[in-house]
Amino acid sequence: MRISDPKIVAGLATLDVELRHGTSLAELTSLGIGGTTDLLRINKHESIPSLLRLLDENHVPHKFLGGGSNLLVGDGDLPWVVLQLVSPEPDIVLEGKLAHVDASADLGRTVTFCAKHDLGGMEGLIGVPGTVGGALRMNAGAYGMQIGTYVREVKVYRAAQRKIEILRGHQISFEYRHTSFAPDDMMLAVTLELPSKPFKEILEGIRICNEKRRSSQPLGQKSAGCIFKNPPGASAGRMIDELGLKGLTVGDARVNDRHANFFVNAGKASAKDMLALIADVRERVHKAYGVELENEVVLWNA
Ligand code: EPU
Repeated sequence: MRISDPKIVAGLATLDVELRHGTSLAELTSLGIGGTTDLLRINKHESIPSLLRLLDENHVPHKFLGGGSNLLVGDGDLPWVVLQLVSPEPDIVLEGKLAHVDASADLGRTVTFCAKHDLGGMEGLIGVPGTVGGALRMNAGAYGMQIGTYVREVKVYRAAQRKIEILRGHQISFEYRHTSFAPDDMMLAVTLELPSKPFKEILEGIRICNEKRRSSQPLGQKSAGCIFKNPPGASAGRMIDELGLKGLTVGDARVNDRHANFFVNAGKASAKDMLALIADVRERVHKAYGVELENEVVLWNA
């Protein structure tokens, strides 16, 4: 989708929103898959309510992008524009045991920044790609911890109310890869309350998690992490592996050889290829185990 109406272009400039025409979503997502559209880069949280009003009044559909690490975007010319927060400087501010973090901050960098200031708890999240906002929305977790545990407050744009609100941690429910945020809520910033721990101890925890991850997951390949959620009491990766599906391909979309719940883009996979692979694996698992695997990866027009 292309924004060319001079009235909208002028409105964006007034709101300090940068317009980038014809951006490739393949370049903004860890899977390296996705068509093109216009990208709107937001410099100030406070401009969001007016921006959304401008887009709605002019019937411009939009989607809000975090780090693009859990996303499968459709091919071709995309029928909506993409909004993205520009990181403020600094994007993490510490105050005792509290870390005030912008949603656009890189998750791994946040974990290490806090660690250097003797704040731990998030060691398991060290290798999880993406932004703090993205991790928050889906309650990202690994190695026995999840980000929701540490949330004290969230600043969010609530599309339904058309305003920015501050939610306290107890007003939000955090479950396995799921939160009570509305689908059109936009994460803007979070305050985490973290346990004090000596840097050395946190570093050791980080080292152990890194090692586990390196030995069991395909790092450095184009993926969206795990494609499916784990069904209660089971591992999707183990089930797919048990069916002998590692290495199964559709075009350049491939079930990874190291971890069967990671589907990688081994070259120039299209969204169509990846979707066909997901559907095929889901059907085979259903036939063999009677379990309907639920996507963890989020689909945008794919
Ligand atoms: N397994 C296999 N074959 C495989 C993959 C796994 O036999 O191809 C076995 C493992 O040997 C192990 C069991 O299945 O006995 C569980 O595997 P693993 O420890 O790798 O955990 P997982 O359930 O597959 C979950 C998360 C990961 C997270 C790890 C570590 C989900 C969907 N996945 O994987 O999160 O990093 O635990 O805590 O919850 C993600 O969400 O994108 C993600 C990568």
